[in-house]
Amino acid sequence: MTQIYGIVAHPVAHSLSPIIHNAAFEALNIDAKYEKFDFESEDLFEFLKKVKKENILGLSVSIPHKETIIQYLDEVSDTAKIIGAVNTVINRNGKLYGTNTDYIGVLHALCPNSALNSQLSVLKSSVLILGAGGSARAIVYGLKLKGLKVFIANRTEEKAKDLAEEFDVNFLCNADLDKLIPDIIINTTSVGMFGVAVEKSPYPKELFKKHQIVMDIVYRPLMTKFLTDAKNAGCQIITGEKMLLYQAVEQFELWTNQKAPFEIMKKALIVNL
Ligand code: ATR
Repeated sequence: MTQIYGIVAHPVAHSLSPIIHNAAFEALNIDAKYEKFDFESEDLFEFLKKVKKENILGLSVSIPHKETIIQYLDEVSDTAKIIGAVNTVINRNGKLYGTNTDYIGVLHALCPNSALNSQLSVLKSSVLILGAGGSARAIVYGLKLKGLKVFIANRTEEKAKDLAEEFDVNFLCNADLDKLIPDIIINTTSVGMFGVAVEKSPYPKELFKKHQIVMDIVYRPLMTKFLTDAKNAGCQIITGEKMLLYQAVEQFELWTNQKAPFEIMKKALIVNL
């Protein structure tokens, strides 16, 4: 019988996850189908009952459910508990287990070709995270785990302050953005996204320095204003689809216990961007 997996989010119509995962299932000859499940928060619990009843084997979890889903799961990994968000659910014989692969996604996006530890520790970098929402939480967790010196800035400073305190990293107030010259800058806000503020950047362009690595998690459009400014300043840029891809690769391997067909997933994503 065809196995069912899927993404639960709202809205979900534009998600690229089905393209990535279905390409992987097909490549490995796994009789499985990855679907889109569009549910609002108030219907999430009922949907999870259906997941158990209909034996849906795995879920990707996206906005706005990453945090609220935790209360409905049977078990949650320690990592997801610390991050405070679940992006992956595995149905283990009717028990729903939640974990988080976003923090792995960001580390691979920053340092592909494995050798993560050595590359990042050689950098011994300072990193500025823009934003203090759900995505920022996983990213802060991952980067701190690798020993990077993390700073958080956010439009609403109180939220950045709270997040920095919770993860024992540094808070940077907006008035002091020009006082820090980080090695890496990552945008985790929705600024620059189609339909949100596509013409805007969350960081003043005059502050970019040539040696910096600048990454966005927004991937529609791929070249955000933030990345265009950084590129014009001579920075090395990392586009937003990378984190999406790497978190999906990790997710696929957790569900199937098989090595994910990375190149096929990457190609499927890129041609559909
Ligand atoms: P996600 O789960 O994707 O991180 P989120 O939790 O809603 O989404 O967080 C969105 C982040 O983008 C927040 O840091 C938010 O800033 P506020 O805390 O001030 O709301 C940031 N953000 C969204 N729109 C923004 C804008 N127009 N300018 C600056 N920051 C913005």
